[in-house]
Amino acid sequence: MTCLPPYPLLGAILSTLLLVAPPSRGTEERSLAAVADFALERAARQTEFLVSQLADRPELPRTFEHGKLVTVDWRDWTSGFFPGTLWSLFEATGDPLWRNRAERFTARVAPAQHNRSTHDVGFVLTCSFGNGLRLTNEPDYRAVLLNGAASLATRFNPTVGAIRSWDWARQWEYPVIVDNLLNLELLLWAARAGAEPRYRAIAMRHADTTLQNHFRPDASSYHVVDYDPATGGVRSKVTHQGAAHSSAWARGQAWAIYGYTVLYRETREPRYLQQARASADFIMNHPRLPVDKIPYWDFDAPDIPHAPRDASAAAVIASALLELSTLLPKEDALAYADFAGAQLRSLASPAYLAAVGENGGFILQHSTGNFPRHSEVDVPLNYADYYFLEALLRLRRSNPKA
Ligand code: GLY
Repeated sequence: MTCLPPYPLLGAILSTLLLVAPPSRGTEERSLAAVADFALERAARQTEFLVSQLADRPELPRTFEHGKLVTVDWRDWTSGFFPGTLWSLFEATGDPLWRNRAERFTARVAPAQHNRSTHDVGFVLTCSFGNGLRLTNEPDYRAVLLNGAASLATRFNPTVGAIRSWDWARQWEYPVIVDNLLNLELLLWAARAGAEPRYRAIAMRHADTTLQNHFRPDASSYHVVDYDPATGGVRSKVTHQGAAHSSAWARGQAWAIYGYTVLYRETREPRYLQQARASADFIMNHPRLPVDKIPYWDFDAPDIPHAPRDASAAAVIASALLELSTLLPKEDALAYADFAGAQLRSLASPAYLAAVGENGGFILQHSTGNFPRHSEVDVPLNYADYYFLEALLRLRRSNPKA
């Protein structure tokens, strides 16, 4: 969030992949830079529409389901993504109108800084206040992020060696979900920003415990590991949003790539890079990955090839792979950058990119939130949009002149 690196190597790699063609052609034929420009422009027009739909509602948009706009407040794990999308549009355009909107919606999630009842404070604050701080250097944003890190750190149990994810799930004693890796960036940033150094130790301990217990021999991840908080022993390895306890839930695999890429960027510990690459390789070589590289909601969904896709997983993967490729030597980076580019071409095609005024005002179509609970299946999701724009900006930053 606060330390997006420049991407000269990625730029060199992508330059070798680009086919320069007029922007009026299909996304297959355009340069990746033209695809990014086209998709960012569409995203800005579509988000204008979404802002107009919100009118005076005091909440934040999450999805559009059963013909209705669904909004949430700061308690929801997704509440930071729409402010993050607005910050991305400010970054893409430099237009103070987007900054103004981003500031307004970021303020709505400020109470999350004191929320000690969930791990999601990292997701909420990093995407909103974290991007705001990176782009404006506003000191009040820094204070909010430091408070958030302090709240998140209270959820760490040294016996388990991990941060507790959920308090609401009574069937588990100490659930830790693979998604939780994304919250660690807040702690790593806070330690670097002068807060307590133990935040970095907490983040690395959580990452190491997850390395030890969440991954299978094929590098796929369980969704939930439940621990005994008194002994630190593993009670069970199960799923909440996947097709089966033993399945590879697509977004969980995406969180693993993203999480360990950030861990490696921040620590340079080879074991984190190794897991990021192994998780990426699992997806990229999977026999049930569709040709357009947008995963089914679970790699083991029972009704493949008729299972719904998850564009949100694809957006997270694309963004993570673009960063991962900057951390590798050129000969290793190429495959990851190439794969991310192909995913972004698919997401920017009419199959996924919504027309202005449709899709409830959200940018991407065809994401899946929680299939087993019949919730948010084949819908837009604010986090698909957030990671899509983050990936497009990473692509553009790597390749400014193409
Ligand atoms: N972190 C919750 C999800 O990915 O659905």
